[in-house]
Amino acid sequence: MSFRITYSVLEADLSALHAQFDEALAAVRSTLGGELPSWLGGEAFRSGDLLQSRNPARPDELLVSVHRTPVAEVDRVVRVAREAQRGWGATPWQERVRILRRAADLISERRMELSARMTLEVGKSRLESLGDVEESADLLRYYAGQLEQAEGYSRPMARLSPNEDTRSVLRPYGVFVIISPFNFPLALAAGMSGGALLGGNSVILKPSEETPWCAEGLYQALVDAGLPPGVFQVAHGEGEAVGAALVRHPGIDGVSFTGSKAVGMELHRRMSTGRVRPCLLELGGKNPAIVCRDADLEAAIEGCFRSAFGMSGQKCSALSRIYVHESLYNAFTDGLAAKARDARVGDPSLASVFTGPVINAAAVKRFERAVDEARQDGAVIAGGGRPRLEAALEEGHFVEPTVVALSHGHRLMRDELFLPFVGVTRFSTLDEALLRANDCDYGLTAGIFSRDAEDVERFMAQAEAGVLYANRRTGATTGAWPGVQSFCGWKGSGGSGKGGCGPYYVAQFMREQAQTRM
Ligand code: NAD
Ligand code: ALA
Repeated sequence: MSFRITYSVLEADLSALHAQFDEALAAVRSTLGGELPSWLGGEAFRSGDLLQSRNPARPDELLVSVHRTPVAEVDRVVRVAREAQRGWGATPWQERVRILRRAADLISERRMELSARMTLEVGKSRLESLGDVEESADLLRYYAGQLEQAEGYSRPMARLSPNEDTRSVLRPYGVFVIISPFNFPLALAAGMSGGALLGGNSVILKPSEETPWCAEGLYQALVDAGLPPGVFQVAHGEGEAVGAALVRHPGIDGVSFTGSKAVGMELHRRMSTGRVRPCLLELGGKNPAIVCRDADLEAAIEGCFRSAFGMSGQKCSALSRIYVHESLYNAFTDGLAAKARDARVGDPSLASVFTGPVINAAAVKRFERAVDEARQDGAVIAGGGRPRLEAALEEGHFVEPTVVALSHGHRLMRDELFLPFVGVTRFSTLDEALLRANDCDYGLTAGIFSRDAEDVERFMAQAEAGVLYANRRTGATTGAWPGVQSFCGWKGSGGSGKGGCGPYYVAQFMREQAQTRM
């Protein structure tokens, strides 16, 4: 493969990294309170109808106000996208690759500023923000490499006669609407948009209404890299308003959505009417880990802790169900509970903080309801409350990393909560654990901790999820990277069948054409 995986966050000298982050944070903080336009037709569009983006750790801190795209503008936006796509689709693929690679380099160059924004806007820790920004750049590089490796997706086919020349070529669909979630505000917007753009489509991005500031970073990188006007537009606003209007518009040719299962299924229904159009869905998760009798206990506790509570449990890949062999149950839950209690919750812009806030007040309410249910039907082993923090953070959306004991059939062991909240239950045989791990509508990621190679192979053969990990102390179910782990949701976790981060991604944004010349 001709792509370059930087992953410099892992390779870097952490003290230098923190110093650079502090500097970027101070610079970014000095710009707070400004306005951002929607970007329509290559121009700044100011509707005067403002959406405010606030810091979830300090909700009184206004970051930016963004001009919503009115539903009445959607028709024009789609027409502009159609017009711009004609030129972009006809642009040689090598030029599309060059521009997207340049955008990746610009994102890498701006990574400290973009990460500082992200920590303020989403509440991710510094390293999680840097990881998201680096992942965005690597996704663009990896997808550009796919187009290169496939030589623009044009290949010779068999001949029926000597004077006949046939090729199979992949061509763009036209206009793609990309709808992204809040939790990987740059990586997912960049990854989906990059796939569609490399495939020769024009893109209308509708980023999460929680993260307009991060989306602005992607827009600026693409424009500065030389993307022609109108090829990439950004429509800001609520999903139910401008998002739904874009998906309803008959002039779009495809949708790529990453977000919750409920919204994804609704978009799937909408896209199933009229003509047949692609609707690529990457949805939620309720990810299990199995801790076997012979597991390395310390590795299992560390891996489960990181996956359940990293980014406050707000990863699609987050660990939310743990099945522990009965012989290890007490030692494991004691160890996990101790780590959860010790985790430093607080302002994620500080180097020492592991767990920042959840995204908004609605997430805090969801947490409180889940804790009440767990108290009633099981037991809260660690956490369960709001942490005591300094006065400046009192209004922040903070909750404690929480470990609960629940039976396998409980609602909280089935529904995605998207919170730092993990349920633990015991098992006696691996068959039983696998059955329970698979007994779920979702199938995104899963992990096992076992020293028995046969048990690991049984898990690999039988676990119903798109991403599987064995004995991973850096993350039982989390931490996929472009070009390393394809990220394909099974069952209720996805509908595209070929994951982001994986080798078949860009081709999904293109349709095949046979060209025979005599
Ligand atoms: P969400 O579904 O609430 O929102 C996602 C996007 O959809 C947002 O931009 C939102 O504005 C838009 N939207 C909402 N209603 C809409 C509608 N009716 N029509 C059109 N657009 C609409 O998700 P979220 O809370 O932002 O993100 C968390 C979810 O995303 C979790 O379920 C998580 O598991 C999932 N996720 C999945 C992956 C993956 O790769 N499988 C990655 C990240 C997040
Ligand atoms: N890449 C992210 C992870 O695997 C979603 O945790």
